[in-house]
Amino acid sequence: MLVLGLESSCDETGAALVDDVGNVRSDVVHSQVSVHAPYGGVVPELASRDHLRNVGPVVREALTRAGAKMADVDAVAVTNRPGLVGALLVGVQAAKGLAWAAGKPLVGVDHLMGHLLSVFVRRGAADAVAPVFPFVCLLVSGGHTAIYRVDAPRTDAIAELGATRDDAAGEAFDKVAKLLGLGYPGGPVVDRLAATGDASRVKLSAPMASRASRDMSFSGIKTQVARLVAERGDAARDDTWIADVCASFQAAVTGVLASKVIEAAVQEGVRDVVLGGGVAANRELRRRVSELGAARGLRVAVPPMASCTDNAAMIAYAGAARVAHGDRDGWDLVATSRTALERVTRKGRGRR
Ligand code: KG4
Ligand code: ZN
Repeated sequence: MLVLGLESSCDETGAALVDDVGNVRSDVVHSQVSVHAPYGGVVPELASRDHLRNVGPVVREALTRAGAKMADVDAVAVTNRPGLVGALLVGVQAAKGLAWAAGKPLVGVDHLMGHLLSVFVRRGAADAVAPVFPFVCLLVSGGHTAIYRVDAPRTDAIAELGATRDDAAGEAFDKVAKLLGLGYPGGPVVDRLAATGDASRVKLSAPMASRASRDMSFSGIKTQVARLVAERGDAARDDTWIADVCASFQAAVTGVLASKVIEAAVQEGVRDVVLGGGVAANRELRRRVSELGAARGLRVAVPPMASCTDNAAMIAYAGAARVAHGDRDGWDLVATSRTALERVTRKGRGRR
């Protein structure tokens, strides 16, 4: 089975051709970073317009690189939730048009399902060893930060074990980078600068470090950085100090994420731990989870970077899993800002 996947939930326009065992035949990502960078964050209206300009060329490129035609495709999968509704709509309408014209089945995919299953996407040498179900997954992106128990590749077989009560971890990276004048998106530049800084020279306290709770919080540490920047005034532009703040911030955030996911896996009695989402590209997070997991006898699967950040290959794969399960969507498939996954952690309050 060959599935064409489309992704347009935020600031990447993606199209990919993937087979039902996860082999990538092509994976094209058009990033909108340069569109949004002058504004320091994603501007929804600009995102929709840029998706509209690029969705056609990106799909054509994915087909060309795979040496395939629409006639060779068995199904069209598209991210229809969660995300920016105007951005999602572009992908959903394009997918409907392609599926209708070629007479192929259509399936909507929850973007979070894409991240949760991205570890099964096969790209080549850098692939992680595929985990066995059930596994525990830390999904860390710009919009979501949660720990899930994944019993099967279906939304009704996935349970949220804990989540952030406020900002997503990626959002915290982006906001701290903005405070330090490092531009957007913040994750990759903080990752790079942290490697040159000394975490012990700037004191930032770890968010929600209590071992008992699986909930997380990342807005307090951003406020701590804001206060430090204000106190230092002009001296906050010093490169060495900025690198030290990045190192301290990254150590605190990745330390909490790593210990929470490993504790959750031990408590759930699973053998496999998986990382997904844009922040899973963070080198310190990858290292910490791998080390802590190994110390507790767990297998840790870290997908290659291209599978962590937003891409259409993971959407095509998650769509293939839906098709294999006999699921199909109608032409009335809608785009919505909310995930289909069950949520137990209430923003600002903790568990219901
Ligand atoms: O999954 P993703 O591409 O989009 C969403 O679904 O949100 O994640 C984007 C997020 C951004 O907040 C970005 O700053 C962060 O992932 N990110 C990183 C790194 N690379 C991307 N955060 C920390 N370290 C990185 N190396
Ligand atoms: Zn994402």
